[in-house]
Amino acid sequence: MLDAANTITINQRRHALQDGIPVWLFGYGSLIYKADFPWLLRRPGSISGWVRRFWQGSHDHRGTPKAPGRVVTLVEEPGAVCHGMAYQVTPEVFDHLDRREKNGYLRLSLPFQLDDDERVDGLVYIARADNPAYLGPAPDTAIAAQIAASAGPSGSNRDYLLRLAEALRALRVNDPHVERLAGLVDA
Ligand code: BEZ
Repeated sequence: MLDAANTITINQRRHALQDGIPVWLFGYGSLIYKADFPWLLRRPGSISGWVRRFWQGSHDHRGTPKAPGRVVTLVEEPGAVCHGMAYQVTPEVFDHLDRREKNGYLRLSLPFQLDDDERVDGLVYIARADNPAYLGPAPDTAIAAQIAASAGPSGSNRDYLLRLAEALRALRVNDPHVERLAGLVDA
């Protein structure tokens, strides 16, 4: 199960990143508040046609194989816009991020917007419904209960959710899915 979800090798083979050529990366989850890598530029941004959802299982960061937590992924939804943070980085940064986000996330090449409406093509980590760690939709109360009960090597799942909610508020982004879950977990 865990090996099947491990995406490090797949991601390293997917995109031929050229030495020294900077790449844009769109972050919509922990990348917004945990930029533990060097970046050249950082700008708020958004990606159209996708929504942020707590539908991916976390066995390695905010849960364990026996009791997975829930973390965000992007899900396609026509007409939707998901706001986050874009980073321009050197290709070496992906060696680190491919390891950090190895539990089912694939790096996809997608267009997104920077805050000044500049459109760029960049990379986005997305956990698709066909990965073994995917949990999918559930009632908000069930998702919140799972988050409240989970913890892993990177800390509690509650902390992940509340830090994301706080980071989105700081960006003046209203994400009803995240806010509803934060309210339930806080209660
Ligand atoms: C992000 O913050 O964009 C992100 C979310 C999940 C996995 C990797 C990155």
